[in-house]
Amino acid sequence: MNSNQSTTYTLRDFATDIADAATHYEAGSLDLFRVALAEPAMKILQREDLLEVGIPRPGNNVAESWYLYFDGELSVVLFKVPVDPPVQPHDHGIWETLFVYRGNVEHTVYERLDDGDTPGKAQLGVAQSGVLGPGEFAVVAPPADIHGFRALEDNTYGITVAQGTYKPERYYYNTQNGSYEVRRPRNLR
Ligand SMILES: [Fe+2]
Repeated sequence: MNSNQSTTYTLRDFATDIADAATHYEAGSLDLFRVALAEPAMKILQREDLLEVGIPRPGNNVAESWYLYFDGELSVVLFKVPVDPPVQPHDHGIWETLFVYRGNVEHTVYERLDDGDTPGKAQLGVAQSGVLGPGEFAVVAPPADIHGFRALEDNTYGITVAQGTYKPERYYYNTQNGSYEVRRPRNLR
């Protein structure tokens, strides 16, 4: 076997590792999901070529994104994280993991605190917030499947992995005035 082939961490390896890690979440443990993501997060960071291998994707929240892997179920998407304006807090309906590939991302995970009974109104609480550097990651998963973020420097890239399809109607939150609006994404994958 070619030694180069045997040592390359492929995008299929990465996707498989994330899907395996997600079985912990599906079994009820977000903590174990996070623990199992640490190793693939470090390995994918070692790939120097990711900015060149993707297939352009119509992004929902960002202008530049590329598929790195898609098998009809699981998607691995590379995207350029905007500095300004920030990506407005939005929900997903499914789990999503966000890995920082290059640069630094200010990232906040929220959960709904209200009962959702008042259309257009939402009260969000911060579940987790911080700056993520290369190799660091965040898990955005129901019931805390809302996040907002922005890059702290130019040329910041993130990788999201998600399984299944996003909600057809996504909520975009305004945390200042406790409201949200519904948008239909261009892309459910
Ligand atoms: Fe998102």
